[in-house]
Amino acid sequence: MNGFAEAAALMPDPFRILWKEDIGSTNDELRALAEKGTAEGLVLIAENQTAGRGRRGAEWFSPAGEGLAFSVLLKPTASKDFWSRLSLATGLAVAEAVEKFVPLAEIKWPNDVLVNGRKIAGILVEAGKDFVIVGIGININSMDFPGELTATSLAIESGQEVERPAVLLEVVKRLSIHADRIDQSFENTMDGVRQRCWLTGKLVRFTCSGVGKTGLVKGLGSGGELLVEIGGKLERIVQADEVRILSE
Ligand code: BTN
Repeated sequence: MNGFAEAAALMPDPFRILWKEDIGSTNDELRALAEKGTAEGLVLIAENQTAGRGRRGAEWFSPAGEGLAFSVLLKPTASKDFWSRLSLATGLAVAEAVEKFVPLAEIKWPNDVLVNGRKIAGILVEAGKDFVIVGIGININSMDFPGELTATSLAIESGQEVERPAVLLEVVKRLSIHADRIDQSFENTMDGVRQRCWLTGKLVRFTCSGVGKTGLVKGLGSGGELLVEIGGKLERIVQADEVRILSE
């Protein structure tokens, strides 16, 4: 299990680890297991993820053994109307876990985690009929990202090698709390997200339902929507493609 046995023993109920040497995409493999009726809480981790997927069909590259590529199977009891909140809940869980090793992690709405303005983790949440797959990729011990100027790792930011199982355990512990709060007490999660909202106060450009928009980010609404001032009016953005920063 390559060092993950100790973390496995400390996982909160009902979380448990299934570690595999090689997997195409942990999200795809966990979905197949979920469709066969696997119980909530399985954490599928790949030492070497060969076909990792990012948002909008992008690839997610995770050098074998250097980072964490894993997916968590959730079966929320909350109504499906609230499931989209799991992206921010996961972002906060990852940010809090990363903050065990660096002073501050920020959340780039809706689901990137940044340290010092560079991406340290990506999140891909995908729903099934009665389950949700939460896919998480975290750069841990990589020291360079060829051709990629906006990525970073925990080792770069903390100046030391970081134990991957310790990060995994912390993410799962935090996720077990925030994933349970998406309906009743989402405000508690939103407080943490707002404190780390990287876009607040920035002038941004994004596309929403095929329409390009430019505006000033004022913050986040109670359901996690992005509040953007566009042409003097406040708009609530629920979904958007890549949000680009125009100015601070
Ligand atoms: C993004 O930033 O676009 C999201 C990246 C998500 C990558 C993770 S790695 C584990 C899981 N399996 C996948 O195929 N993707 C997610």
